[in-house]
Amino acid sequence: MKKAVFSGMGMYIPETIVTNKQLEVLMDTSDEWITERTGIKERHKVKPGEGTAAVALPAAVMALANAKMAKEDIQLIIFSTIAGDFLAPGSGAILNEMLGVPGTPAVDIRQACSGFIFGMSMAKAYIQSGLYERILLVTAEVQSVALQMSTEGRDTAALFGDGAAAVVIIAEDGHKDSAGIGSIALHSDGRYAEDLSIQIPTTRETPFLSEQMIKDRRHWVVMNGRNVFKHAITKFPAVINEVMALEGITKDQVKLVIPHQANLRISEAVAKKMDLPMHSVVYSNIHKYGNTTSASIPIALFEAVQEGKVKKGDLIVMAAFGAGFSWGAAIYKW
Ligand code: ACO
Repeated sequence: MKKAVFSGMGMYIPETIVTNKQLEVLMDTSDEWITERTGIKERHKVKPGEGTAAVALPAAVMALANAKMAKEDIQLIIFSTIAGDFLAPGSGAILNEMLGVPGTPAVDIRQACSGFIFGMSMAKAYIQSGLYERILLVTAEVQSVALQMSTEGRDTAALFGDGAAAVVIIAEDGHKDSAGIGSIALHSDGRYAEDLSIQIPTTRETPFLSEQMIKDRRHWVVMNGRNVFKHAITKFPAVINEVMALEGITKDQVKLVIPHQANLRISEAVAKKMDLPMHSVVYSNIHKYGNTTSASIPIALFEAVQEGKVKKGDLIVMAAFGAGFSWGAAIYKW
């Protein structure tokens, strides 16, 4: 059978750091409030004018170099972002131009925080169907431009950060237990679409963007934080248990759980519910980057590998929950 295997990874974090202390100057908040509620100490933001594909580019180039693969050998780009450079076309096409690979197909997905898990499922399916053998899965998020840096927007301004990561995924001959992407579980529930959303521009109105909409402050991120929290702490354990059952493994066999870095309190609640030791098994780097939406899992995986926390043969569980709501989990054998 064909296995979908990570052959190289890359990440990119914009240079500019925004600390909690800096936010204190812009809004009524405090380092203590943010640290206690979220675990975040700082996040990064893009330079003015640096769009989503520009943030993806260095991560993609690093992943290709680590995979020792020429960009021309990539057969498909899957680009995950909540906010692309334009409403249309997708940022995959823009990255195609920046990489200089005209003709290479590029598809955008908009599964927000679950984008990396949904993207992995697509890469695995393309590889197992035999359609493609070398895929670049890119996640890139520029969220700082959509945050209100004022007391009105403090619930989201403190949470989100910019960043990108990329993985080259290749086909290898193998069997169920060989290295590569294992079982995947995916879910969406659109009943909660508005609980975490950016609603403007909208095709529900003509014109789809107006001065009035902006005056009414409808173009900022909307979040029902309590409902997101409530669903996250139940959906994360449920989907992790589901994917382990699909794979036929128990939590004792899992070396590392890499949750989407939403909020340290969410990860801690999940670890507690699942009786998993937070510091040795559940990975966290949210203090440095905040919530980088679909880029958070591959950034965390990249750093976990660099820190020597993942070794050949280890079983990893990656799990995400976010806007949609959509959530999912994947097993990866290193
Ligand atoms: N600084 C100070 N006060 C703040 C801030 C801030 N940055 N943000 C919100 N507040 C205020 C609110 O305005 C509110 O004030 P009010 O009571 O006067 O109206 C008050 O704090 C709310 O306090 P709590 O209800 O105690 O806050 P809570 O414990 O619910 O924490 C939080 C809020 C952190 C947003 C929480 O609901 C949460 O973590 N939700 C999950 C959100 C999340 O992780 N989203 C990420 C995207 S989705 C994903 O990735 C899973």
